[in-house]
Amino acid sequence: MALLIKNGEIVTPSQRYVADILCDNEVIARIDRRISPPPGAEIIDAKGKFVFPGFIDPHVHIYLPFMGTFSKDTYTTGSQAALVGGTTTLIEMCCPSRKDDALQSFELWMKQAVGKSACDFSFHMGVTKFDDSTAEQLREIVRRGISSFKIFLAYKGAFGVDDAELYRTLKLARELGVIVTAHCENETLVAERQKELLAAGKTDPAQHHESRPPAVEAEGVHHLMTFAELTGAATYIVHLSCKEALDQAIVARQRGVRVTVETLIQYLTLDKSYAEKPRFEGAKYVMSPPLRDRANQAVLWNGLRDGLIQTVATDHAPFDFKSQKPMGKDDFTKIPNGIPSLEERINLLYTYGVKTGKIDLHTFVNVASTQVARTFDLFPRKGAIQPGADADLVVFDPNYRGKISVRTQHMNVDYSAFEGWKIEGRPSLVTVRGQVAARDGKFVGQLGHGKFLPRRPSHF
Ligand code: URP
Ligand code: ZN
Ligand code: ZN
Repeated sequence: MALLIKNGEIVTPSQRYVADILCDNEVIARIDRRISPPPGAEIIDAKGKFVFPGFIDPHVHIYLPFMGTFSKDTYTTGSQAALVGGTTTLIEMCCPSRKDDALQSFELWMKQAVGKSACDFSFHMGVTKFDDSTAEQLREIVRRGISSFKIFLAYKGAFGVDDAELYRTLKLARELGVIVTAHCENETLVAERQKELLAAGKTDPAQHHESRPPAVEAEGVHHLMTFAELTGAATYIVHLSCKEALDQAIVARQRGVRVTVETLIQYLTLDKSYAEKPRFEGAKYVMSPPLRDRANQAVLWNGLRDGLIQTVATDHAPFDFKSQKPMGKDDFTKIPNGIPSLEERINLLYTYGVKTGKIDLHTFVNVASTQVARTFDLFPRKGAIQPGADADLVVFDPNYRGKISVRTQHMNVDYSAFEGWKIEGRPSLVTVRGQVAARDGKFVGQLGHGKFLPRRPSHF
């Protein structure tokens, strides 16, 4: 059935205008000031509302075996949460352990999503070892529609690669035109500092940020930049949290290193004092890199505004407060790392970014949708409002007022890191390829409607 969205104010990175949008056969069929409804079309009145391209979260974990447990969402719960929050495409990190084969792992991750997800999806292929068979498996995964890899400079003994593996991965990526996303923290420094803190009897959640100060992240970025410069590979720094790390990326970019920077909604809105909350509450806010001093928030917002930082993700990694975070009750190094936020990214970015004047509406759309699509070979199928693009649209009500609460969220986790926070504006209608998937905070879509999005490498 066709869908006609009338009188909405369309916002893209470069345009803002009022028009009707006709969606048919999964794509945007026509955009015009006045379109007469075809017979049988559903009509949505979007007067007084914005219409944004469907938002894309470039960094999520749905299926994540990690730190002796599993993250809580599945594609059933995660895709519903994403859609209610205006995110219509997920790019998940496929994270094999060092024991596992890349190709088998890719198939395992794919199986979690196909037939279950209500939103569209793709994967960054995690390269967690590089042995004799890895290159051929990665080539095959690229042939199957993956155009980005993921490497970890952190998590020694789990996902972390050594320098030879890093070098080989980047060389292969350069040859294939694949972009390499990277978690940048010096794993040796983290391990040494963790040992020192524990030996001094410092075991509480607040020690997490003491073990991974900004210099640890900045060193990781500097390290990656050296390897990127020597190989010529295109790189993407995930979850950048602080000024020191951003400085390293900017300096490298200025000398010609190919680097894109992602920050997270958590770093833009939360600071390390949350991880210092008493009675183990701080564990809700343990993630890596850790939450930072508040002063970094202005650096990150300004970085988005000035184009020094290109995307905003969530790194969604939900672990229950009651049953999983306590794995690290007596040892902060065992607290499962992650702050859930998949459902709230867009509402928080709008409320605390656009409404406060830190970024404008065009930047908002760009960093959470269009630029993500461009970077990860999804544009203009995704991230665009133009004829022929997938009809993934967010009709956004700027007059909505509400509060975030665990009681109303769709994410399958027992707390909200933003409990009680005010929201000014939210999606009133969300479509995935022309099918309505969410209305006013409720999921009304179809599980299994989500498709794998094959991508072709472009970073040659
Ligand atoms: O704390 C985090 N970031 N958890 C998820 C795993 C990762 O490093 O992305
Ligand atoms: Zn990470
Ligand atoms: Zn992650």
